[in-house]
Amino acid sequence: SLDTAVLRALCARHGDAPERLIEILHDLQELAGHVPEAALPVIAEALNLGRAEVHGVASFYHDFRRAPAGPVVVRLCRAEACQARGALALIDEALEQRGAALGETAADGVTLEAVYCLGNCALGPAGTVNGRLHGRLGADRLERLVAEAFA
Ligand code: FES
Repeated sequence: SLDTAVLRALCARHGDAPERLIEILHDLQELAGHVPEAALPVIAEALNLGRAEVHGVASFYHDFRRAPAGPVVVRLCRAEACQARGALALIDEALEQRGAALGETAADGVTLEAVYCLGNCALGPAGTVNGRLHGRLGADRLERLVAEAFA
């Protein structure tokens, strides 16, 4: 887990400014791959904010991963244009297949997240597998891409 000194330095880089909390959490996620629970009280203290407040922000924004991601991260677009092309059914099927909820890492090592528009609207349903963008996704093709990502 992250050193208290590292966390304090991260907050200091943002001037220990409470209004920079979201940026600090973003930096932390970049650094650690997720926002670890144990980091929140340290950040709260550095920014002179209540623990509950920092907790609330970290859980409210779906951008923040609360646990480490699996080896394969799938992000599926659930914005309007992709919804019109069946994105929600695709997301449901992918979740059901692995018995996981959005944002969770399933037993097969896949972390499934929903995103709002990947700029690939004409080719929906759109998604990324380990950062690579794909369009016209269906359940079968998605599972093939996941299998390839593990290979
Ligand atoms: Fe899905 Fe834009 S709405 S990529």
